[in-house]
Amino acid sequence: MSAAATRRPLVSGNWKMNLNHLEAIQLVQKLSLRLGEGDRTAADVSLHPPFTCLRTLQTLIDADRLSFVLGAQDVHWEPSGAFTGDVSAPMLAKLDVTYVIVGHSERRAGHSERRAGHNETDEVVNAKAKAVFGSKMTPIVCVGETLEQREAGDAESVVETQVKDSLAGLSAEQVGGLVVAYEPVWAIGTGRTASSDDAQAMCAHIRGVVEGSWSGAESKVRIQYGGSVNPTNAAELLGLPDVDGALVGGASLEADGFARIVAAAA
Ligand code: PGA
Repeated sequence: MSAAATRRPLVSGNWKMNLNHLEAIQLVQKLSLRLGEGDRTAADVSLHPPFTCLRTLQTLIDADRLSFVLGAQDVHWEPSGAFTGDVSAPMLAKLDVTYVIVGHSERRAGHSERRAGHNETDEVVNAKAKAVFGSKMTPIVCVGETLEQREAGDAESVVETQVKDSLAGLSAEQVGGLVVAYEPVWAIGTGRTASSDDAQAMCAHIRGVVEGSWSGAESKVRIQYGGSVNPTNAAELLGLPDVDGALVGGASLEADGFARIVAAAA
């Protein structure tokens, strides 16, 4: 079922609320020097800076013909309107954004008091994923259980519900073309990663859920692991049969380390 060899790895750097547009230029230039030719051809690399850096990076990537694709960290589900502070999918598409993260745990409901300021439900995540497709971009749909849910033995059912509800109403073709990021909430920004066995088991489970609801998409959908991925643990996590890449937070802010993670995927 896995057919890992046919899925091109995707390593995504989620910068979160870090770096202004001048710092962004420096990081991308350094990163471009650190990445080898082989890394560029064997894996896709998407960079997800804050919205304020997108136009600058679009120009830089275009002018220097860099092999990164641009990503965003979030999007509103409506194309325009009275939504103060939000950014729409058509706006992102106009900036040559390719991948849009939706449903990150720092935006989902009930995951952590400090992070969940946005209280997004699966229904909201679903509307956002559809908006991303509507503007011909690719969603990276984040799912993952809290520590409490894992300890209660509910991790698989929680993630299954998130996958089914966040992707509801999409066609098998769309699901085969998107990216699911499995990010256990307790592993994000904590220095704790899931064990290889747990990461593989959950990513295989997600692929099984996709097969159950969108038959045929399971061999195509790319599943990333995320949560404290770093240059030391990347090779092991990215070598797992059902893991097709990584969503990297903290370690994507440092050029050498992120280049080593990309090399591990390639
Ligand atoms: P982290 O973040 O790599 O800093 O744990 C991952 C993410 O939140 O996407």
